[in-house]
Amino acid sequence: MPASEEDPVTATQASTTRTGDKLLGRVAFVTGGTRGIGAAICRSMARQGADVAAGYSGNQERAEMFAQDFAGAYPESHMSVHRGDIANPDDCRRTVAEVIERHGRLDILVNNAGITADRTVLKMTDDDWRRVIDVNLSGAFYLSQAALRHMLERGSGRIVMISSVIGETGGIGQVNYASAKAGLFGLTKTLAREAAMQVQRMGATDGLGITVNAVTPGYTSTEMLESVPDKVLDALRSKIPLGRLGEPEEVARVVHFLAADASAYITGQVWGVNGGLDM
Ligand SMILES: NC(=O)c1ccc[n+]([C@@H]2O[C@H](COP(=O)([O-])OP(=O)(O)OC[C@H]3O[C@@H](n4cnc5c(N)ncnc54)[C@H](OP(=O)(O)O)[C@@H]3O)[C@@H](O)[C@H]2O)c1
Repeated sequence: MPASEEDPVTATQASTTRTGDKLLGRVAFVTGGTRGIGAAICRSMARQGADVAAGYSGNQERAEMFAQDFAGAYPESHMSVHRGDIANPDDCRRTVAEVIERHGRLDILVNNAGITADRTVLKMTDDDWRRVIDVNLSGAFYLSQAALRHMLERGSGRIVMISSVIGETGGIGQVNYASAKAGLFGLTKTLAREAAMQVQRMGATDGLGITVNAVTPGYTSTEMLESVPDKVLDALRSKIPLGRLGEPEEVARVVHFLAADASAYITGQVWGVNGGLDM
């Protein structure tokens, strides 16, 4: 058994070596894949043998840095980066088409890209409400719709939504974010049901099917938390039973688990990775 799969210390650390072959021959498109949790998901997919397409919205410098580091660390994985605003339905359809054209197929879609624009309900502007819903919820819908068409043609696929523990608990100053992240549960379960129904109607026999699941990270060490004042972070940390923030790699390992062929009997589920925060 590879050490990084079993050892609780190394499980959170990025490794540059292949640690398994669960995703060999698969192509994964990870939105927001050039930094934070998304970049960890891309690395984790590559370590399991997948080819990877990483989406981003505008931070070209970070995308180039990611591409360069990734190519050095995982030379066996074919990798591409795709720029587009997932709030824009045309960008979503274009980037999915680009990935399929570039890699020949799309087996795994990870709807990871997300933003925050925090304000209390009374101070929330129409623009902040709409923008967060558009990116965090509608983007996942447009991308999933485009990917599902292709997956149905093949009869197999995996879609994973990166929601948030805030979608389950709500969060002060986060009404737009919590609503979008909770909306992903309805999207996940409906897509899971419809995809299963369609695959059964087609009579696909390979058993892989199309599954759709959501992962709900708790507070995770990425740039998204940089705007949170230290005092607030300390208070949040004190509420986490495991007493620390999560690492992006700890979210990523659940995603690659769900993406594997052998996870074919898991669909429409919500997987918490939050240090016990929602117990
Ligand atoms: N960090 C946490 O504590 C935490 C907790 C729970 C859930 N989550 C969720 O996990 C996901 C990843 O979070 P993170 O902390 O890794 O975020 P992050 O470090 O802020 O990275 C966000 C990524 O999303 C991309 N992105 C943002 N807006 C986009 C748009 N309109 N179209 C396309 N791509 C866009 C960014 O691209 P650019 O680089 O071009 O800007 C970047 O690659 C998010 O959905 C977040 O809500 C995070």
